[in-house]
Amino acid sequence: MDQTALFKMSYGLYVVSAEADGQRAGCVINTATQVTALPPRLMVAVHKDNVTTGVIQRAGAFTVTAIDMTADMPYIGNFGFRTSANFDKFEKYGCEISAVGSPYSPEHVCALFACKVVDTVDVGTHLLFIGDVVDAQRLSDEEPLTYSYYHSTLKGKTPPKASSYQA
Ligand SMILES: Cc1cc2nc3c(=O)[nH]c(=O)nc-3n(C[C@H](O)[C@H](O)[C@H](O)COP(=O)(O)O)c2cc1C
Repeated sequence: MDQTALFKMSYGLYVVSAEADGQRAGCVINTATQVTALPPRLMVAVHKDNVTTGVIQRAGAFTVTAIDMTADMPYIGNFGFRTSANFDKFEKYGCEISAVGSPYSPEHVCALFACKVVDTVDVGTHLLFIGDVVDAQRLSDEEPLTYSYYHSTLKGKTPPKASSYQA
């Protein structure tokens, strides 16, 4: 089997976030996708060791923002290479609150989806959270950043907790 064939799968890049019991968390993911239209439903895959995962579980809700082409590596690093355990990721890029009570940063993102969790599936290292979209907004006219552009032009790396990581 040639596992590098998996590099041919296409994705966007997103920040998924939540708040519970006063704790805010969020992280970069490439694994967000719309799974149904009626009702509009999204799925996110989040590593069990990510702080964001436990906060989504406790909140019963999450918010996804679609990262746009204005994002740079410091922005990706803020959300994707640090942990929310001892750091407020929403301080540097502004913090607003979505319809389901999640914090989100309105900078460098072109769309927002506020979701209530309707199902959780354990897939091993990651949990899949399936959420009904209760609010959706266009936040800018910029094009969404693709995972391919992140690798080819921003020269970004994929850390071990990403679903698509290969050692
Ligand atoms: C490009 C990129 C893609 C990522 N994709 C995912 C993903 O799909 N799922 C996931 O759980 N983590 C993914 N991560 C890793 C998390 O963003 C990272 O582990 C983060 O530090 C977790 O933060 P937290 O502990 O505050 O939740 C990705 C990171 C980057 C930079």
